[in-house]
Parts: sequence; structure tokens; C-alpha cells
Amino acid sequence: MNQKNSLGLNKCFLDLGDPFKLFEKWFDEAKKKEINDPNALALGTASKTGIPSVRMVLLKSFDNNGFVFYTNLNSQKGNELRDNPNATMCFHWKSLLRQIRIVGTLKLVDDKIADDYYNTRAYESRIGAWASKQSSILKNREELLDSLEIYKKNIKIKIMYQDLITGLAGI
Ligand SMILES: Cc1cc2nc3c(=O)[nH]c(=O)nc-3n(C[C@H](O)[C@H](O)[C@H](O)COP(=O)(O)O)c2cc1C
Repeated sequence: MNQKNSLGLNKCFLDLGDPFKLFEKWFDEAKKKEINDPNALALGTASKTGIPSVRMVLLKSFDNNGFVFYTNLNSQKGNELRDNPNATMCFHWKSLLRQIRIVGTLKLVDDKIADDYYNTRAYESRIGAWASKQSSILKNREELLDSLEIYKKNIKIKIMYQDLITGLAGI
């Protein structure tokens, strides 16, 4: 399985007829071998004028319908995906010497799925998601700390912002 050939590739491609199965197999191996975040992927989006951007996100689930991550829809990526749902994902597992690229169209997961995920998150993560305005420039560290305090205290604002944190699924 892990014998490299001269190109640095190994006998790991198995059944190329089913890329989802291959992904699952490689991902299982990565979970055992990567030091951290085997579910980290580079997500590429583009503005409606075609200017690309890439950033890391974490894969939270996948099946034959697509690959799911969660983000703030008011972020740069959220805005770009509203205008242009074409996106690409790249996983790189250094310990396996393998990468996988996925290209497709992103769509929102059902609210119920997003809510269920949201409710699994630790209290600090939920507060952090409300308090940090993804992709926008912070004046200073105090601004974020103040924002955290406001969201810890104000339940109405919390509920409003819960609506903004939603999942995106891509193929
Ligand atoms: C390892 C790693 C994992 C990350 N996972 C996520 C994620 O799952 N969702 C997310 O919205 N941002 C995640 N981020 C932060 C994003 O990379 C990015 O900074 C943020 O979402 C704003 O991106 P944007 O301005 O391009 O929209 C992660 C960053 C790192 C380094």
C-alpha cells in the first residue's frame, strides 16, 4: 500500500471508478497519520469578476452528495459564493504524500443540519462565532474582547447572529 514508485506515488488508487470511496479510504488513513487537522482543506472561491481567493476550512461531514463545511455567510467567502457558487477544495495529507482536489458548486445545507451542527459546538466557539466579524478588519484586540463580552451578555443579539452561521455543502 505505501510502497512508493519513482514518481513518489504509491499503490493507493484502488477503485478509481468511485472517487467518494477513494476519498473515504484516504481520509481514514489521514485521520490515523496526520499530526493534526486531517479534515483541513484549502477552499478556493472566486468573485463574480473571477478574482480567486483561497483559505483553510475544516470538513465536517461528507457523503456522495457532497462535502460539508461551516462558515459565516457574511464573510468574504460567503459573499463570493452568493455571487458565484463555483468552488474548489484541496486536501493535502503530507503524511500520506497525497492530495485530492474537488471541484463543484456549493449550496446551503438545510437549516436543520446547520442548527444541529451549531448546537454541537462548545459555548466559547458559539460566542466566538457571533463576536468575530469574519473577513473584516479589527481596529485592535480590545474591539474583539469587547464584542465577546457583549455577546456573552445579550441573548437577543445571540439569537440574531445564530441565523448568520450556516453551513455550506459542495460537491
Ligand atoms: C486550520 C484552519 C481551519 C479553519 N477552519 C475554518 C472553518 O471551518 N470555517 C471558517 O469559516 N473558517 C475557518 N478558518 C478560518 C478561515 O481560514 C478564514 O480565515 C476565515 O474563514 C475568513 O475567510 P474569508 O475572509 O476568506 O471568508 C480556518 C483556519 C484555519 C487555519
